[in-house]
Order: sequence, then structure tokens, then C-alpha cells
Amino acid sequence: MDQAEGLRTMMQQSFGPSRSHSTVESEKDPLLPRCPRVISVTSGKGGVGKTNVVVNLALAFRRLGKKVLVLDADLGLANIDVLLGLVPRYTIEHLFGREKRFSEILVEGPEGMQILPASSGVHSLVDLNESQKLLLLEEVDLFAGETDFLLIDTGAGISSNVLYFNMAAQESIVIATPEPTSLTDAYALMKVLSTQYGKKEFLILVNFVSGEEEAKRVFKKISKVVDHFLKTLSIDYLGFIPFDEKLPLAVRSQKLVLDIFPEAPSSQRFEVLARTLFDRPSLTKAPGGIQFFWKRLFASQPQTIQERGMF
Ligand SMILES: Nc1ncnc2c1ncn2[C@@H]1O[C@H](COP(=O)(O)OP(=O)(O)O)[C@@H](O)[C@H]1O
Ligand SMILES: [Mg+2]
Repeated sequence: MDQAEGLRTMMQQSFGPSRSHSTVESEKDPLLPRCPRVISVTSGKGGVGKTNVVVNLALAFRRLGKKVLVLDADLGLANIDVLLGLVPRYTIEHLFGREKRFSEILVEGPEGMQILPASSGVHSLVDLNESQKLLLLEEVDLFAGETDFLLIDTGAGISSNVLYFNMAAQESIVIATPEPTSLTDAYALMKVLSTQYGKKEFLILVNFVSGEEEAKRVFKKISKVVDHFLKTLSIDYLGFIPFDEKLPLAVRSQKLVLDIFPEAPSSQRFEVLARTLFDRPSLTKAPGGIQFFWKRLFASQPQTIQERGMF
């Protein structure tokens, strides 16, 4: 049994499949514990649209009546607040400095979405240490019971933070574009997450395309490589966002495209994306919400995790 396999087995034993309730399921049965869907938005390459996807998706979920928490986890190069024209008083740095609690740092974004802002240019946050990771999980955990969707903007690449936040999510959306480097970098990220951390399922969202046809071509290219080199991995086509000149226009005025150009092609796709995710049977096979798992695991055997060099 490899390391990741061992962890998954422990996870099953800790929670059992009956703990794996999605928000949707718990809404159907009020006796089930409420537990947010944790979705990371990630990429191998930077500049592919993660931050825009996260916040527009958050707005689309709000309009479906859902409670949304957005975690800016691009910790060293944070920009969700800038994108939204917000000027947060405190950031995640104050959480790690134990100066502020999670709820004091949160800022309210468009239409009531909650945002945990990160800090830009803070080198110490580029590689979170174990206690910072644990503190963040604990604080998110305390707060997230009120939340339907926790959306994480992970930042790009294969740094320890990016890998960590993807592991903390039940569903990971990998953004790709038609650029060859975006494809190879997306592949590299999925490869590390699957071979070293046992994450086997990814949702592919294709950005900067002319339409569905081109998006499917991009997806086919990725799935060909995956089928050939990473047979145990499962990737699903989630959808596409078209290249849309209205999107950078909105960015320049620090507004969301879905907010100020609701009829724009990208806005319409953000709505479709929210609905697609909402309608999908939530929660992969990861029971209980991985963040709960990690918290318990850390609490029970922090040494073991550190010694194993998990993160
Ligand atoms: N579908 C799109 N059409 C046109 N421009 C886009 C689209 N998606 C993203 N952009 C532009 O690309 C740039 C990078 O987007 P961003 O969301 O910041 O990417 P990331 O978070 O992955 O670095 C932004 O300037 C944004 O305006
Ligand atoms: Mg970004």
C-alpha cells in the first residue's frame, strides 16, 4: 500500500461513506450535517483565468441562492481584492500572525459573497508551514458550516501551496487554454497531484477559446496524453469560457463581467458553469470533505505527517 493509499484508507475508516454529504444532499435531508462543497480552481500555468473564474462563479452561485466563501490562496500574489476593487483592512497575514480571527478578516464581495483576502508580495506566505496550514484549516472549518460552496483560487504551478489547496478540495477544476504550454503545465500539475498525492479526478475547464468545438479539441489533446501516460487518472470535460473582450473591460473597471455585462458570452458561460457544477453529483469519492479529514489527521498525529513530508 503506498502512502496516499494508506491515507485514503484511514479517511474511509474515520468517516465512512455515510459522511459524504454534499450541500445538495444535506438540503434534501435536514438531519444530515451541512457541509460545504470545496472546489479548487487551479492551473499549471499562470494567467489562464483562474481568478476571474473563481469570482464570477462565486457570483453565479450567489444568484442561485447559495452561500459562498472565496479563499484567495494565491498567497504571495493575491489579487482577488484588486480584481473586485476592495481594500481589505486585514489579510490572511493577520490570521497567521494571530492578530485577527478568520471572521474578522473576511470581507464582503459582490452580492454577499464572503472573501478571505490574501497578501501580495509577502514572501513568507509563498510556502506555508505546517502550523499555518493547520491553523487555516481549523479556521475555515469553524466557519464553513454556514457555507454551501467554498471556492479556492490556488494560484498556478506545482508549489507546495498549490498542491496543498488542491488536496484540501473535494473537486479540482483545472483550467487549460489552447496554448501548448498551458496543456503541458496542466498535465504536469495533474501528474504530481495524482502520482504523489493520490488525487485521481479532475475537471477540465477550457478558457480563451472560440467556442465549444475548440474547447473539446483542447480537452481531447489533454485526455490523449493522460490516457497514454497516466492511465489511473480520470478527467472530465467541465465546459469552456470563450475569449471575450468584455472580460478585460470589466477587469479594468474592477467589476465582474457577470455583474456589468450579464449578456456577454463569458458571463453566460459562467452561469452555465455554476449550474453544471450545481447539478453534478457532488463530492468525488473523498468522504466527508477532505478538510475535516486533514484537521483530524493533523490533530492526531502531526509528527507522522511532518515526518512523512506530506506537504
Ligand atoms: N475568457 C477570457 N476572455 C478574455 N480575457 C480573459 C478571459 N479570461 C481571462 N482573461 C484575461 O486574462 C488575464 C488573466 O486572468 P486571471 O483571471 O487573472 O488569470 P489567473 O488568475 O489564472 O492568473 C486577465 O487580464 C483577464 O482579463
Ligand atoms: Mg490569479
